[in-house]
Formats: sequence, C-alpha cells, structure tokens
Amino acid sequence: MKTYAIAAIPGDGIGQEVVPAGERVLQALAATEGGFAFDFEHFGWGGDWYRQHGVMMPADGLEALRGKDAILFGSAGDPKIPDHITLWGLRLKICQGFDQYANVRPTRILPGIDSPLKRCKPEDLNWVIVRENSEGEYAGVGGRAHQGHPIEVATDVSIMTRTGVERIIRYAFKLAQSRPRKQLSVVTKSNAQRHAMVMWDEIAAEVARDFPDVHWDKELVDAMTARMVNKPATLDTIVATNLHADILSDLAAALAGSLGIAPTGNIDPERRYPSMFEPIHGSAFDIMGQGLANPIGTFWSCVMLLEHLGELAAAARLMHAIEAVTAQPALHTRDLGGQATTADVTQAVCHALKASQD
Ligand code: IPM
Ligand code: MG
Repeated sequence: MKTYAIAAIPGDGIGQEVVPAGERVLQALAATEGGFAFDFEHFGWGGDWYRQHGVMMPADGLEALRGKDAILFGSAGDPKIPDHITLWGLRLKICQGFDQYANVRPTRILPGIDSPLKRCKPEDLNWVIVRENSEGEYAGVGGRAHQGHPIEVATDVSIMTRTGVERIIRYAFKLAQSRPRKQLSVVTKSNAQRHAMVMWDEIAAEVARDFPDVHWDKELVDAMTARMVNKPATLDTIVATNLHADILSDLAAALAGSLGIAPTGNIDPERRYPSMFEPIHGSAFDIMGQGLANPIGTFWSCVMLLEHLGELAAAARLMHAIEAVTAQPALHTRDLGGQATTADVTQAVCHALKASQD
C-alpha cells in the first residue's frame, strides 16, 4: 500500500481549525478507500513561532518539507505582526522557494450555495483561475530611501520574465485544453502597462499557436471584473498575473457564494518540489477558536491535493461528499448564513464518505 507523506502547516487563526479538519477528512477517505494511506507531519510555524523565535519558520524549514508528497496549509496572518512579515516569512517563502509557479483557483457554485448573482444558474459559473505565482507584482523587488524625510521614496517593481510568463500561459492553455469547453481568457492591462503587459500579450499569442484546439480571447483586467459579473457563462479558464489574479479570484469566490468555500493549489508542475494546497480565505482572527470556520475551502483543497497525487477516483469521491454536505442548509456555517460548526461539517463529510464506500 502506498503511503503519502503530507506536511500539515496550520499557520495562524482559523488555519489551526480547518487544517486538522482537513486531515480528519483525508484520513477518513484513506480508511474507506483502501489503496493508500497518509502519514502527516505537523509544523507549528506562523505567528506564535515568530513570537518565540523571531522568524515565521526555521531557516532550514524548506529542507524539512522537500521530501514530502504534498503540503496542506491553513493561513498566515496575525493582527499583532505586520502582514508583509507573516506573508513573506512563511507562505511566500514556500511558494517561491519551491517555485510553485502555478496557483490554480477553481470556482463553482456548489449545490445548496446561493450566489449573489441572481440571474446566474450554477452551471453558468464554472471557472478555473490560473494565477502566476512566482514573480510579477509579488517579485519583492523594490526599496525605500530617504525614510522619514519629505523626499522619501518607495518602489515595488513588477518583474516579468519571458520564461515566467511563457510557462504560466502554457500551463493555462494545457489546463484549458483538458476541460470540456477548451476555452481560455488571457487577462491583461497592456493599454496602460505598455512594457511587461505588452510582452505578456505577445507571449500569449505565441503559445496559442501550439494549442489550435483551444479558443482564446484577451480581456483587460478592469473589463474582466464586469464580465465576471454580467456574463459569467462566457468564461471557463482564465490566466492572469499574480496581482490581477489575486483580485479576480476574491471576486470569483464571492460570486460563487463565499470565500470560505474556495480552494487553491500552489503547484510546481514539473514536480521538482512538493506542491501546497490551502483554502483561499485568511486567518480570520475575529472568529478563531469558536468552531465557526467553514472547513469546505480546506476540503476542496484536499480534493486538489488528491488530484495532484494522481488519486483521481478518491478525489472525485471526496468532491461528491463535499457537495452532498453543502446541499444541506442545516450543514452551512455562519459565512453561508447557517449555524453549523466546523466539527458538524467535518463529521458530515466523514459520514458521507463512509456512506459512499463500495
Ligand atoms: C491570496 C491572499 C494572499 C495574496 C494574501 C494573504 C497576501 O490574498 O492567497 O490570495 O495576496 O497572495
Ligand atoms: Mg487574495
């Protein structure tokens, strides 16, 4: 029997509630599936680690993760520590250290979930946003000078490399090609950003030649926000820069009913390093420790983790169990207008898995 080595990094806030829930569900799945097992190792990195050690994770932390088959991550963020420290010290350190350059964000309206789009049928909104995850606006290049003086200056330079742009656009075309509609929208802002985004457009047109069966179009990022709201059915796979996709994916998650549901995978498509799966939501300190967190975003991230491991049948079974649970309003957490707890939803998904056992 195959045993997958998984690193669990709950991080901060409700990450410490949803990651254990995800682990329970994965273990319940393995117990009912039979062909594989999970060996979890837990890493207590994040805000509390920072208070004790002055860093979000140990200097050799990446080495401890390197041999794992996948990473299940919660969230990083602490009201008492500046956001750029928590982000750069943990999540980005792993994403960039392991060159997880494809951030994949599927969005659908799950059964039983209400979309704020009143005229949108659930089948009209079935998107995957592919976010460039290694450079662009998050390259970390820039600096400050003359600090505290009237002439103070600060820069954040967005870096786009031909290699970086080509590999993410190629990944998106491949993903679009694997989906039934074979359709890709390339998000740009080449009207205003006349250097890097013009190169982005040129590379998209070049890569497109290798995918003659994929229909593709180009959309300015501002126009894309309106298209997502007004014509959701015209979209399928979407590729965008790090920051553009960051913003569009929050909009997508909200249009699909709740940020608490949305999953993401930080993927190294070349499999040189482990990939990392996490709910899209943050640490939500306002509700932490109360059992109110919606674990569905983590469970759906576990589906992506299973797909990445090649356990496609198990992934599909977990997705069905999730959908059977979201279909019942009595099992909705507070973010969905319900009263169910994290534990209620976790138990229900575990039961649904047992019920679907062959
Ligand atoms: C996300 C988040 C992060 C990001 C935050 C926590 C910095 O919003 O994963 O989308 O902007 O990358
Ligand atoms: Mg975001």
